[in-house]
Amino acid sequence: MTPILDLRSVSAGYGPFHALFDVSLSVQPGEAVALLGANGVGKTTVARVATGLIAPSEGSVWVNGTEMTGAATFRFARAGVAHAPEGRSVFATLSVEENLRLSFRQSKGRRGVAPALDQAFTQFPSLARRRRMLAGDLSGGEQRMLSMARVLVEAPRLLVADELSLGLAPIIVDEIYNDLARLRSEGTALLIVEQQISHALALCDRVVLLEHGTVIWEGPTEDAEARVVAKIFDHAAGEEPPA
Ligand SMILES: Nc1ncnc2c1ncn2[C@@H]1O[C@H](COP(=O)(O)OP(=O)(O)O)[C@@H](O)[C@H]1O
Ligand SMILES: [Mg+2]
Repeated sequence: MTPILDLRSVSAGYGPFHALFDVSLSVQPGEAVALLGANGVGKTTVARVATGLIAPSEGSVWVNGTEMTGAATFRFARAGVAHAPEGRSVFATLSVEENLRLSFRQSKGRRGVAPALDQAFTQFPSLARRRRMLAGDLSGGEQRMLSMARVLVEAPRLLVADELSLGLAPIIVDEIYNDLARLRSEGTALLIVEQQISHALALCDRVVLLEHGTVIWEGPTEDAEARVVAKIFDHAAGEEPPA
């Protein structure tokens, strides 16, 4: 099978700083992969390379069998790769509707905006009610819902989701993971970056562990023994590794 995403021996960084070293990672169509690791090991950098936000300094990036190394972000979006970036990924000074328009314009092209907007507001009535509100005035959970609305409507081939659970109340995290499970059941492959590992392990088939910018282990979720996973969470605050 042709992977939907294939990173081949990718190195990447920021200026002179090297963040990733020889990372190879692939996601098959419909597969859900958890990318786990402690703070600062390079997970977000992998997500950025996988969605075209930064180009690798070495190695190559393939989407659905086409080489995309160095291609612009919108090309990744048009190829069906969606990105839910970490943190507050909305434009705070734009309205809810403007945020959605911008995103759909990039992924769908100009003529795709209106139908996608209709669909988003039908699927997320609470966003429809807040369409004229500035995204910066939404609660953290609502902002994450806005991020999710952008990608759920796109029905991407692959969603790269970066720490969606960070800083959110458990009930909202549950909702987000329900949305991810639904997206997956509709055929979208997932690359889930997480520090809260229990949700990610429950959702994903396969685990890739990152340490110091390098893949140190990968395998099926059931083989990702608590000890293996716990190793990288020695210093991570908060969550206990699964029993
Ligand atoms: N925009 C940036 N400019 C410079 N260095 C960065 C930038 N983003 C991340 N880094 C550095 O790259 C390394 C990996 O970071 P990151 O990919 O964000 O890790 P993670 O997501 O696993 O916490 C860290 O040392 C971090 O400080
Ligand atoms: Mg990160």
